[in-house]
Amino acid sequence: MAEGSKAWGGRFASGTDRRVERFTESISFDQRLFRQDIRGSVAHAQMLAQVGILTNDECRQIVLGLSEIRAQIESGEFPFQLEREDVHMNIEAALVDRLGDVGRKLHTARSRNDQVATDLKLWTRDALDRIDERLADLQRAFVKAGERHRGVIIPGYTHLQRAQPVLAAHDFLAHVEKLGRDRSRLADCRKRLNVLPLGAAALAGTSLPIDREAVARELEFEAVAANSLDVSSDRDFALESVFVLAMIAEHLAGWAEQWILWSTQEFGFLSLPDAICTGSSIMPQKKNPDVLELIRGRVARVIGSLTTLLVLVKGLPLAYNRDLQEDKEPLFDAFDTVEACLELAAVVVDGASLRGDRIADRLEEGFLDATTLMEHLIERGVPQRTAHAVIGRLVGLCDRKGISRLADLTDAEFAEADPALGPGTRERLGVANAVKAFRSYGSTAPAEVDRQLDRWKESLGL
Ligand code: ARG
Repeated sequence: MAEGSKAWGGRFASGTDRRVERFTESISFDQRLFRQDIRGSVAHAQMLAQVGILTNDECRQIVLGLSEIRAQIESGEFPFQLEREDVHMNIEAALVDRLGDVGRKLHTARSRNDQVATDLKLWTRDALDRIDERLADLQRAFVKAGERHRGVIIPGYTHLQRAQPVLAAHDFLAHVEKLGRDRSRLADCRKRLNVLPLGAAALAGTSLPIDREAVARELEFEAVAANSLDVSSDRDFALESVFVLAMIAEHLAGWAEQWILWSTQEFGFLSLPDAICTGSSIMPQKKNPDVLELIRGRVARVIGSLTTLLVLVKGLPLAYNRDLQEDKEPLFDAFDTVEACLELAAVVVDGASLRGDRIADRLEEGFLDATTLMEHLIERGVPQRTAHAVIGRLVGLCDRKGISRLADLTDAEFAEADPALGPGTRERLGVANAVKAFRSYGSTAPAEVDRQLDRWKESLGL
């Protein structure tokens, strides 16, 4: 049996089977926690000195040693060792290599169970903050696109069938709202995450006189976890974050799908700059929206990560179980994926422009003014169900006559359909008039949309 060394010695008569080392290691992927691991260790050592477990000189040596190790990792010269299993043991063992017995004191009143939970929370907290910035960038891109396209009217759809006209800015702001909810979900998740695990030790706490409040302050946690058993088994924060990421990815996928459609020849609504499109290896004329397609596609990975995490923690008994080591790769991948998607989404939104003329050419098709004409009848005292039937019949009449617009019907035909459709009717016809007629809060009424644009500009610092 090929054997490696044992970092913790003592208990074991033999070293670890190399195959077991390879199977159980996490250093290949958890090394990206090194900054958080060192930050946590520094706070822990300082606290140990404050309560008199370490001397100030020992603490000073540990802090210095850790900062040298950090520099070495950053410069790419740190020799990560598989037989040292994970990031925690690699860093601690390197410290012991430097400091001998002083280094051996760092792990006092601590276990890798509360250590890894702390590292992962610190990492996730930073990552959530980065995602929040990216979300804000994308919101700003949509608001600016709304401003660039002020006054442009597009067809609004339900069931992907033409429904009612809306301002393009209103459509863009719908995405800003969704991203705004994502940001508030993220802030919520960050709040629940922000509770310090360290000090729970392996599962039961410690008999040593530690000061967890001091560590929490140093690491900017808002509270200290109240139950040590809970701490070493808790990965709620990872699952919740990845759910937030999955929602973001869903929002991006829906938007991407819409813009892919808009950029087709059939719709012809949107032109995308060459810089974000790709060609075909055989068809010379092609210009494909691959970035949007990949944004749509990558939601699959994020949902995959969420599913992995949900299944991973299912049925785990208290407290720490090694299964939990499997939390990192899906967590990292979900963050990496969504961060990249958000970055590219902002590039696409910044570069895209609506083809106003093309859209306007066919805007009077599809009876987008039918609903506001119905509301005109309602304002004149006709019950809604009756008004609906009247306008429905007029649309049917257009179909039979082979005309595509209500405005092409004659005054006599309107009057015959309902006496309330007298003079004044024509002022309600056509897409431009329909848009002008909107009034309600949150509607596509131009004044409303302007107000919403201003509100977002102010809150996004534009
Ligand atoms: N690498 C481990 C993980 O990520 C650290 C905790 C190990 N704890 C243990 N009791 N073996 O979960």
